[in-house]
Amino acid sequence: MEKFENKINSIKQMIKRLGYGEQDPPVRQFFSVLSGISGESYFENMLAKILQKRPEVTGEHLSYLIYISLQYLTDFAYDEQTRKEKLQADLVAYSDKIIELCRTKYASTNVIERYAFLQIILGMLNKKCIVIDSGASIGIGLMALNSDKFSKIETGSELQQYIRKKAEISKAIGIDVQSPDLKWQSACYLPENRKNRIGLERDYKMLTDKGTKINLMQGSLLDMDKINLPQADIIWTSNVLYEIEGDVGQVMKNIRNLLKAGGIWINADYRHDDKAFATKENPYVAMVRVKEKWNTLLEVLEAPSDSVRAITPGKDFNIFKSACG
Ligand SMILES: C[S@@+](CC[C@H](N)C(=O)[O-])C[C@H]1O[C@@H](n2cnc3c(N)ncnc32)[C@H](O)[C@@H]1O
Repeated sequence: MEKFENKINSIKQMIKRLGYGEQDPPVRQFFSVLSGISGESYFENMLAKILQKRPEVTGEHLSYLIYISLQYLTDFAYDEQTRKEKLQADLVAYSDKIIELCRTKYASTNVIERYAFLQIILGMLNKKCIVIDSGASIGIGLMALNSDKFSKIETGSELQQYIRKKAEISKAIGIDVQSPDLKWQSACYLPENRKNRIGLERDYKMLTDKGTKINLMQGSLLDMDKINLPQADIIWTSNVLYEIEGDVGQVMKNIRNLLKAGGIWINADYRHDDKAFATKENPYVAMVRVKEKWNTLLEVLEAPSDSVRAITPGKDFNIFKSACG
């Protein structure tokens, strides 16, 4: 445990901070109660066992993984106010399971609307594409391509023609480090968004039956060269790079190597990662790089936030449009 002493202390500080932070009340109160017992040896031992397998996990990610694990194991008991005695009892009773979940799982969302960026860019490219979604979660964003799921997103007249167009997809492949687990995915919705849990199951079923057929594979973006994947026309990443526990530069190299000549990487994320998100200065953008011009970053599309309710052309939209021919 000594080996992880500093990291354990920083995780305890993070839990304390989350107990005072901007989270909705049940989550904030959970962290506040957890902070009060975080010095107990069984809890510190639990953290050390998780860190043995996952030394690079951030304190914030691990704090949420503990909360999500408890939600998962108790059928969402922590939607309600946390009682100290119950939390202590659950941490002890579920100790091995929490350790296993926190060693292997990731906090995971799958926001369908983000994939409207991908639908529009596919429409602009106007060719048959092999698409790889890297960090695809349970795959529903990818399955939503060519479905009616983007019809409520506001797009100006310039983008309408592309979002409505049926994209020709020869293969759609999703990769994620964890295998799909709907219950875990539901537990990742914090209590303030609990109504989304019902929508998630409904969307998953509907899109599995009627959406774009995809091949979902388990694997890490750090080891993409070891997964049997075809060369791609498009590699898509959304809200993934900040979760990589390891060398993000290696992930970018892997992405570039996996692209065909002329292939593109679309990374959907906030413009700056060191500023407040979802402001005018820091919108959610589709950042495109072409394999052969890797150092040129084109901001092709823009949305006010990563829930993507409205899309406008980004500042480099016209440059990209001309390149598409
Ligand atoms: C926040 S979710 C975003 C999912 C989806 N792209 C979206 O925008 O809705 C991030 C996903 O990345 C996955 N992930 C994290 N690290 C990964 C890695 N090294 N390799 C593959 N997937 C990873 C997580 O399991 C999670 O499902």
